Amino acid sequence: MHDKILVIDFGSQYTQLIVRKVRELGFYSELVPYNSFSSLDESVKGVILSGSPYSVHDREHPTIDLDKIIGKVPVLGICYGAQYLTQHFGGRVERSDKREYGRARTFFTKESGLFKGVENGSQVWMSHSDHIEQLPEGFVLTARTGNIPVAAFENRDKKIFAVQFHPEVYHTVRGKDILRNFAIDICGANNGWQPQSFIQSTVSWIKQQVGSERVILGISGGVDSTVAAFLLNKAIGDQLTAIFVDTGLLRYREYETVLEGYRSLGLNVIGVDAKDEFYQALRGVTDPEEKRKIIGRKFIEVFEREASKIKDARWLAQGTIYPDVIESAVGHHVAQTIKSHHNVGGLPERMNLKVIEPLRLLFKDEVRRVGRALGIPDQFINRHPFPGPGLAIRIIGDITPEKVSLLQKVDHIFIEELRRNDLYNKVWQAFAVLLPVQTVGVMGDERTYENVVALRAVNSVDGMTADWSHLPHQFLAHVSNRIINEVPGVNRVVYDISSKPPATIEWE
Ligand code: XMP
Repeated sequence: MHDKILVIDFGSQYTQLIVRKVRELGFYSELVPYNSFSSLDESVKGVILSGSPYSVHDREHPTIDLDKIIGKVPVLGICYGAQYLTQHFGGRVERSDKREYGRARTFFTKESGLFKGVENGSQVWMSHSDHIEQLPEGFVLTARTGNIPVAAFENRDKKIFAVQFHPEVYHTVRGKDILRNFAIDICGANNGWQPQSFIQSTVSWIKQQVGSERVILGISGGVDSTVAAFLLNKAIGDQLTAIFVDTGLLRYREYETVLEGYRSLGLNVIGVDAKDEFYQALRGVTDPEEKRKIIGRKFIEVFEREASKIKDARWLAQGTIYPDVIESAVGHHVAQTIKSHHNVGGLPERMNLKVIEPLRLLFKDEVRRVGRALGIPDQFINRHPFPGPGLAIRIIGDITPEKVSLLQKVDHIFIEELRRNDLYNKVWQAFAVLLPVQTVGVMGDERTYENVVALRAVNSVDGMTADWSHLPHQFLAHVSNRIINEVPGVNRVVYDISSKPPATIEWE
């Protein structure tokens, strides 16, 4: 078991960031919503109390049973966490309607282990309304800023530390040092949380869970299911059967390429060509949500049929990752997730399968690091996200095999050129969309009346917001030329210059 820094979530928008920063430093960290916290286990070496959109003066402000923590392990309160500690121990928090938001400079008033190596005047990031007016008895002030009298304080005997600013935010220049000081010097935690150690411990956990039983896993070619597959493969080899379904809505030659790639890496994978079934089910359907539902249902049907052929399967593995698992403590901020239809709802119960999710503790960037450490080639690790319903939501209107084939060719040229021009890894997601619009053109001496395609490329961190990518005009001109010259049926290419919000990334 890894030493753990537990982060108690009071609902701040930065809470996930605390966990990520602590993990980046090599310490294992987990998030627990304040209302699910019950007690500490032996692996917990320290607790961080997060910020919150609430004020300690709000009637319904979030609370926990601090007696279960104080005196047992060191505690670091951040923002609301600091104010909550102040109030709990009898200090005074002043209500304010004005927000202090942005950069500030900290001036240390007393030496503190928390700020070891941090220079006086160092920049921190503030985001609070209330402020701490008076410290509780037994606590000493360790830092102030130009704006507020209490920026940090502590009670060394009780091992309680608190900061009004946000060390987890990038703009707190020495924030990582502060979190490291807390984890190492104050909590004495072991920083052995690295991809290799994760792989080692997860491999033995999988072996112990699964024993000699058979596991099935649906894979999509995307990062999560691929890494899950290779982690399971490392643990149990051919006891794993991975199932890859060709929905007929994948990218150009994706099915063949991915299948060959997986096999050459030693994965026990079954390919299922279900193209016609999907086309049939989608015939004449134009409503995007209807398409999604049909594809989701069909996928489960096909997967279930194939899975039931594997007679002694006892486990269903899934590529669920940490952001899919955690939900924020406070209702109005729900953890942001991109759901995949590969989470085959209801199937474990119907087929009487146990569920195993080897990545459920990892953030996306950690999944990638683990994937690299497992030796999975970059072409799998650095893939752009691809939606479960695939090209069906990039063909506006009804789906036909001909339209899919046309769009695959267009999309392939775009992606190939992005790779050739060293742009693929600089955009977060890129693709082409087939519009249900014909326009007039001329080719040679003839007038044409053919299809319009749109190209979309966006920069984003998590897909929740996105900006359109400012791809070079020369590049776009070249891609447009190639598409019109090489793909019969297309005579016009447009580039989507909308951001999200208000537009979405996909067109449907
Ligand atoms: P939007 O279009 O909502 O997309 O801005 C955000 C991200 O989610 C992906 N996306 C989907 N993924 N099933 C999926 O698995 C879907 O139905 C779906 N719709 C959108 C989209 O590709 C982008 O990465």
